[in-house]
Amino acid sequence: MKRILTGDRTTGRLHLGHYIGSLANRARLQNEYDTFILLADVQALTTHFKNPALIHDSICQVAVDNLSAGLDPEKITLVQQSQVPAIAELTVLFSMLVSVNSLRHNPTIKTEAKQYGYDDLSYGFLGYPVSQTADITFCGADLVPVGADQMPHMEAAHKIVRRFNDLYGDTFRLPQALLSATPRLPGVDGNAKMGKSLGNAIYLSDDAETVAAKLRSARTDPARLHAADPGDPQVCVAAAYYKAFAPQSYEEICESCRGGKIGCAACKRELARQINALLEPVRERNAYYTARPAVVKELIAAGTARANAVGAETMRRVKDAMGVTL
Ligand code: TRP
Repeated sequence: MKRILTGDRTTGRLHLGHYIGSLANRARLQNEYDTFILLADVQALTTHFKNPALIHDSICQVAVDNLSAGLDPEKITLVQQSQVPAIAELTVLFSMLVSVNSLRHNPTIKTEAKQYGYDDLSYGFLGYPVSQTADITFCGADLVPVGADQMPHMEAAHKIVRRFNDLYGDTFRLPQALLSATPRLPGVDGNAKMGKSLGNAIYLSDDAETVAAKLRSARTDPARLHAADPGDPQVCVAAAYYKAFAPQSYEEICESCRGGKIGCAACKRELARQINALLEPVRERNAYYTARPAVVKELIAAGTARANAVGAETMRRVKDAMGVTL
């Protein structure tokens, strides 16, 4: 079986944007690939190093969210990044092969630096694409499912792998990015991005009433004052959610909106019904694992142990190739 590695920073609960953008896809791919899911707690520190409590609690939370989304603990390998020495070691060794300038010009680094208000970048933050390359290569991943924002990091990984193989002999295979096909999900407030730090997210662990309430507050066409006014689905968050989560109803609901035949309240009630139906099995698994923290910890420990066996083997080959063995 070919191997997948992908992961999430442990900086909070996962939401519907993660679900539609990556988790649902992971659940489909787990049957065809040996799937490693990285709980990226070290990468979480690059931006959240002042909040160790959040990072700590999010390690199990992110694992639970992945399992809730339908990832089968019998099939996947959950890996806690900080507990894999091979990732830390590879990061140091790869750091010789990457220029500071290429990191400074990485578009995602630039966007995130602005978002977090950094004008004086830390070494760890600037270098996280190097560490992400280590995430991918320590286990010899063939395929890396990611969103569009991660493509600059995949390019960096390609450069590093090629450079390594050129200098030290064929050691790593070139990992392929698998770009998410779904467009970015807007937040309930109409912001182009649903984000935990933006306060506009619907979480996988939200109960049915919370989901309905958040949808009631979701931003619709601001020019539409009465139910009988024609609405513009292009500028409506509810329409975007129909497209993502109830595509079979999308065209019809847009028609009704444009024709002033359905009001926003009724439209959102129906949307809440459909999203809650979709989330029901997710919520059930969430409740199951949340009630069993010891089971979750054991799954993470076992997965990490498996990853470490793979990583130790990789490091033997890497150190040999780079000449740092006796
Ligand atoms: N940077 C990714 C994100 O923010 C998370 C991540 C960490 C990752 N390591 C990875 C993704 C390795 C793919 C492969 O979503």
